[in-house]
Amino acid sequence: VAVVLTGFMGAGKTTAARALDADAADSDVLLEARFGMPVGAIFAQHGEAAFRAAEEEVVLEALASSAVVSLGGGAVLSARVREALAEHLVVALEVGVDACWDRVGGDPNRPLAADRASFEARYRERAPLYEQVADVLASRPPTRAELELARSGLKVLLPRRGGPVVVGEGALGAPVAVHGRRFCITDETVADLHLARVPDLAGVIEIPPGEPAKTLGTAERVWQALAAQGATRGDHVVALGGGVVGDLAGFCAATYQRGIPVVQAPTTLVAQVDSAYGGKTGVDLPEAKNYVGAFHQPAAVLVDPGLLESLPHEEFAAGYAEVVKTALIAGGPLWDRVGAGEPVDDAVVLACARTKLQVVDADERDGGRRQALNLGHTVGHAIETVTGYARLRHGEAVGLGLLAALRLSGQDALRDQVAGLLAGAGLPTSLEGVDPDAVVAATARDKKRVGTGPTPFVLVRAPGDVVVGQDVAPDAVRAAVAELLSHASSDSAHAR
Ligand SMILES: NC(=O)c1ccc[n+]([C@@H]2O[C@H](COP(=O)([O-])OP(=O)(O)OC[C@H]3O[C@@H](n4cnc5c(N)ncnc54)[C@H](O)[C@@H]3O)[C@@H](O)[C@H]2O)c1
Repeated sequence: VAVVLTGFMGAGKTTAARALDADAADSDVLLEARFGMPVGAIFAQHGEAAFRAAEEEVVLEALASSAVVSLGGGAVLSARVREALAEHLVVALEVGVDACWDRVGGDPNRPLAADRASFEARYRERAPLYEQVADVLASRPPTRAELELARSGLKVLLPRRGGPVVVGEGALGAPVAVHGRRFCITDETVADLHLARVPDLAGVIEIPPGEPAKTLGTAERVWQALAAQGATRGDHVVALGGGVVGDLAGFCAATYQRGIPVVQAPTTLVAQVDSAYGGKTGVDLPEAKNYVGAFHQPAAVLVDPGLLESLPHEEFAAGYAEVVKTALIAGGPLWDRVGAGEPVDDAVVLACARTKLQVVDADERDGGRRQALNLGHTVGHAIETVTGYARLRHGEAVGLGLLAALRLSGQDALRDQVAGLLAGAGLPTSLEGVDPDAVVAATARDKKRVGTGPTPFVLVRAPGDVVVGQDVAPDAVRAAVAELLSHASSDSAHAR
């Protein structure tokens, strides 16, 4: 089985392949040798069709004879090549069209990189092909150890920052290269159901299930338990559970002895599509959610969508709100599927993870683009605060927040569509017994607010086109919130 690097021109395939094996085969180099001239001259003298035909032959030969092969950007256009790749371990390098253009745009030996518009069109056309053949979707060159993770049929995502994300059945047992002994932090419910799937544990710390446990008091008990069990700076934490465990255990790992690695092992839909990625960790204060925390990128994220089978229906529904949010941010094929009401399967979980990682890669510390992930959360968090974190699940509040954000965006048809999706999943689309003014006041304490300025909102221009940092008049916020409360008699939020 060969390791194959694919991806668009300028993604860095040749360099990544040589880093894995100095003797890596490169299809463009092989073609230049065969024709006795540079790629640009082959195109000019023989035409693209002749180039592609020769490329197909050269690639099939190299796959059969080399340990590491780097493919020209267009090699995946051949169905025979795509078919042959099924036998091999394929890494798709994806660094974004801007980075590719910066590297190769206008290069005279790159006949297809002459003008930017057709370069971008080609990028969009080929992206699904790379994705289709890839076992590893990488935003940076992979290490040998990371490639091993994909050998047992697991899908691997490699974000620019942070460790590998491994998705598939049996992911909790994947041999991630994180040093030291593992101490598992989990909640009592998840411990009973899934703890046995995590191999090689030096210690286990259980917290009570649910949001009320996401406090500094619980964190202190966890720090003390880590100390009592002898965890050192050479060891690491595995966070097995939903977003509460992930946020709290990540925060404990970020701070214990000034920081030890954390491996996220998400077991809820919320955590598998959203909270396990991106490195935000923390706890709630009585004043507001997630008010104390730290950035701590996971050393690895182990995602087994099969674990969701034990998830109660309401918890799955709560995660579905984050799926809808993520699909609105992503647009494209993910929104096409989710917007059409298709069920959440492994591919949707993987696509959501990828969307979140792409946004985080562009802006780890929340300076701009990352705030897109806050879509629906300004009003959602405010509703949670006003209801004391106890009445609604986080995802239920986010669903309501999405409806408010879409109204504030002037997206009335999209709001109706999303309301239909949420209702179909059993999520509330309205709420009883809450004072809109209290919700509006709580939005003013949002963490995204800087200094004494207004709270910035995330608004939607279209699926895939989300704008951050938008000022919204307080009256408009009040109206969008009040609307959520006005249909309370027809379908009210279920209290827990
Ligand atoms: N860090 C981030 O970027 C980020 C993003 C989104 C949400 N969050 C946080 O995530 C939290 C919400 O996460 P959540 O919805 O996963 O809640 P949760 O962790 O409380 O889990 C929900 C419930 O499901 C149970 N459970 C977990 N896995 C199960 C399984 N496989 N089978 C059966 N039961 C299972 C848990 O015991 C719990 O009772 C919030 O605190 C929110 O702030 C963080």
